[in-house]
Amino acid sequence: MFRPMNKPRAVHRCEACGATQPRWTGRCPACGEWGTLREELVDRRPGGAGPNLGPAAAPAAVALSEVDPEGHKPMPTGLGEVDRVLAGGLLPGSSTLVGGEPGTGKSTLLLQVLASMASAGRRCLLVAAEEAAHQVRRRASRLGADAERVLVVEATDLGAAEAVMVQVAPDVVVVDSVQAVRDPEVASAAGSPAQVRACAQRLVDLAKATGSALVLVGHVTKDGSLAGPRALEHLVDTVLTFEGDRYSTLRALRSVKHRFGQTGETGLFEMGEAGLGEVPDPSNLFLGDRKAGVPGSAVTVPVEGHRALLVEVQALVGRPTQVPRRYVTGLDAGRVGFLVAVLDRWGGVPVGEHDVYVSVAGGARACEPAADLAICLALASCLSKVAVPTGIVAIGEVGLGGEVRRVSAGAKRLAEAGRLGFTKALVPARSAPGAQTGLQVRPVATLYEALSSALPGAAFKRGPDGAPRRQQVSTRRDRWAAPSGAPHGYPVPSSGHPARLRVLGPPSP
Ligand code: TYD
Ligand code: MG
Repeated sequence: MFRPMNKPRAVHRCEACGATQPRWTGRCPACGEWGTLREELVDRRPGGAGPNLGPAAAPAAVALSEVDPEGHKPMPTGLGEVDRVLAGGLLPGSSTLVGGEPGTGKSTLLLQVLASMASAGRRCLLVAAEEAAHQVRRRASRLGADAERVLVVEATDLGAAEAVMVQVAPDVVVVDSVQAVRDPEVASAAGSPAQVRACAQRLVDLAKATGSALVLVGHVTKDGSLAGPRALEHLVDTVLTFEGDRYSTLRALRSVKHRFGQTGETGLFEMGEAGLGEVPDPSNLFLGDRKAGVPGSAVTVPVEGHRALLVEVQALVGRPTQVPRRYVTGLDAGRVGFLVAVLDRWGGVPVGEHDVYVSVAGGARACEPAADLAICLALASCLSKVAVPTGIVAIGEVGLGGEVRRVSAGAKRLAEAGRLGFTKALVPARSAPGAQTGLQVRPVATLYEALSSALPGAAFKRGPDGAPRRQQVSTRRDRWAAPSGAPHGYPVPSSGHPARLRVLGPPSP
């Protein structure tokens, strides 16, 4: 059957994830969102959006060994925390998307970046699509930023923005925000997925052609599902998120995708009267308000990107209720639920029937499994009203069988704990000893062992049904025993001896 090749083809594009489908369906097969597929015509003429396999000028292919591995060097932004996340700075011709909820401080951060780079002699342009130039000027004064050298243009029209970029030929251009820019050739309204995608694609292409480093600001709603920024992730080289709690001054810049460096790196800032201040020593910030010797608190050392930092896990255990609930901040809520079950089953800590509140102090986050042991200690400590002795950090993943599992970067974590004055660490039994760190390490193989080491003197009541029968059998067979003497390298406090633990340990035969 004859089918003209040049006829525009209809595809259905998902507004949430940008994937295209040949047929309309109620639910996007790629991302699972409902009602997000919209019909779009794809121009298949040569030069149109479809593939063009005509005899266009072919670019020269060279041997990989002849390619300069250095290529372009990143331009440092001058803000240490931003450079840490970008692995050195912004690359010429690259495109970076900075996503975040409205009001987190994206415009503030990027104005500070532009001012810093301008003062280092870079040509910096701000395309203000949301704010008037005088508002930007006022913010710059508030930040004490060098307003002399940053060029600003108010533009919401894509063509106008492109014309200025070509005219100014900046080293760095920030478009704030990509949702406020509009391409008149696309029928839909500014901020619609089709508009955002079309504008971003043209800006990314122009940046690549002219060698400017492009930074696009994108607003994301709380669930991160606003059509727009999510659909742009594949267009750009780097995706950063700027996050912060509305009620905290702490802000975190994280790399979600980075073609030129490691992802998962985090930069920390504090929003103040004069803009964003860098937090080069987050451990001190997070532990600054800690009240040592209070039940329900334990310190652990998560690793964010290349950096280990100390955080305090706090727990509060409410009264037993029929339908116990879990309130979790700064931690993986699913993981806390799982640890509550493991505590119940393998730790002899009947926390499961209580309402449980667990959070990381100071607005920090500790979502990696290495925080498991500290979460368990904080919960057990709160329920027993016995404080974890000061100077102890707890590092280790807890498995479903109550075993303490090894975590990565052990030495780095211990070194950071030592730097902050901690002297003892509970670590997984199979991890390397922290000899060089100067910390006394107590290797623990099981959750039970960890609890009895860190909370000597704690006496828990069993759950309403007493000790689970199967646990009695298995603990006897495995010969779990309370640590006797002080094999763990640091003295047992005089207030209690682990061997006297009545309920934490296995039931006496
Ligand atoms: P803004 O950069 O406009 O956020 P976004 O671009 O992500 O929407 O910053 C918004 C908030 O930051 C606003 O609530 C005020 C606060 N802020 C400060 O606290 N100190 C400052 O110096 C500045 C410039 C802003
Ligand atoms: Mg803004």
